[in-house]
Amino acid sequence: MAETRRVAIVTGAARGIGAATARRLAADGRAVAVVDLKEGDAQATVDRIAADGGTAIAVGADVSDSDQVAAAVAQVAERLGPPQILVNNAGVIRDNMLFKMSEDDWDTVMNVHLRGSFLMSRAAQEHMTSAGWGRIVSLSSTSALGNRGQANYSTAKAGLQGFTKTLAIELGKFGVTANAVAPGFIETDMTRATAERVGMDFEEFKAAAAAQIPVRRAGRPEDIAATVSFLTGEEAGFVSGQVIYVAGGPRD
Ligand SMILES: NC(=O)c1ccc[n+]([C@@H]2O[C@H](COP(=O)([O-])OP(=O)(O)OC[C@H]3O[C@@H](n4cnc5c(N)ncnc54)[C@H](O)[C@@H]3O)[C@@H](O)[C@H]2O)c1
Repeated sequence: MAETRRVAIVTGAARGIGAATARRLAADGRAVAVVDLKEGDAQATVDRIAADGGTAIAVGADVSDSDQVAAAVAQVAERLGPPQILVNNAGVIRDNMLFKMSEDDWDTVMNVHLRGSFLMSRAAQEHMTSAGWGRIVSLSSTSALGNRGQANYSTAKAGLQGFTKTLAIELGKFGVTANAVAPGFIETDMTRATAERVGMDFEEFKAAAAAQIPVRRAGRPEDIAATVSFLTGEEAGFVSGQVIYVAGGPRD
């Protein structure tokens, strides 16, 4: 099943959706750079990929810092080869109702999701356009449609949809596609933290979410990884500028 050994970068891949996506892309035959804030945290994902017989390296970088992004992408190009796949997955939440939301809550979320995806995409596109082939997938969310307590996060996730469509228009002629995946409720540390914030037991929180989802279950990181696998695949070259809701039902 191994396709051409292309190099993929997955940000925020120490855990959750990013880790599952890194493992899936490695299983697809990609050489994967597992990027996260701390190289040590990313190493656990690399070890799992290696145990599965795949190729991966751990790279520590804060995606919202332009010097760290430039250094990380250069390191990937040197150690694995020029990156041709980028998954902008790194994310944080700083939930609060508008009247209680601090400027720091706002700026942190904008910086990681929007500035981070911008910096990573700008650095990686150079390698993709030179090769005449590339795939950029950014993680949006059903929260882009509006979600109580998430004015910052829903704004960032809606912003990533506009970012994606513009990249698709600008980069298409170089053989580079750009798409967004918008997950619904996925069982990860991020949703665990949300359950904690609202004072609910995680299993109850999950069951309440599942009751509202047409397929009647919470999503798993692997559900998102499978969609990213398709969008970054060799056969997805005519799919660009799209937002795919992976939410167990229609959410847009
Ligand atoms: N879990 C869900 O239900 C859900 C739903 C919709 C969208 N998403 C999105 O999917 C993505 C992954 O979510 P998750 O649930 O796996 O989250 P998570 O909190 O489990 O993992 C996020 C990872 O990103 C890393 N990270 C945070 N800031 C970073 C930075 N500045 N630079 C580099 N790495 C950084 C963290 O260290 C962590 O490893 C996020 O963009 C999130 O917004 C999640």
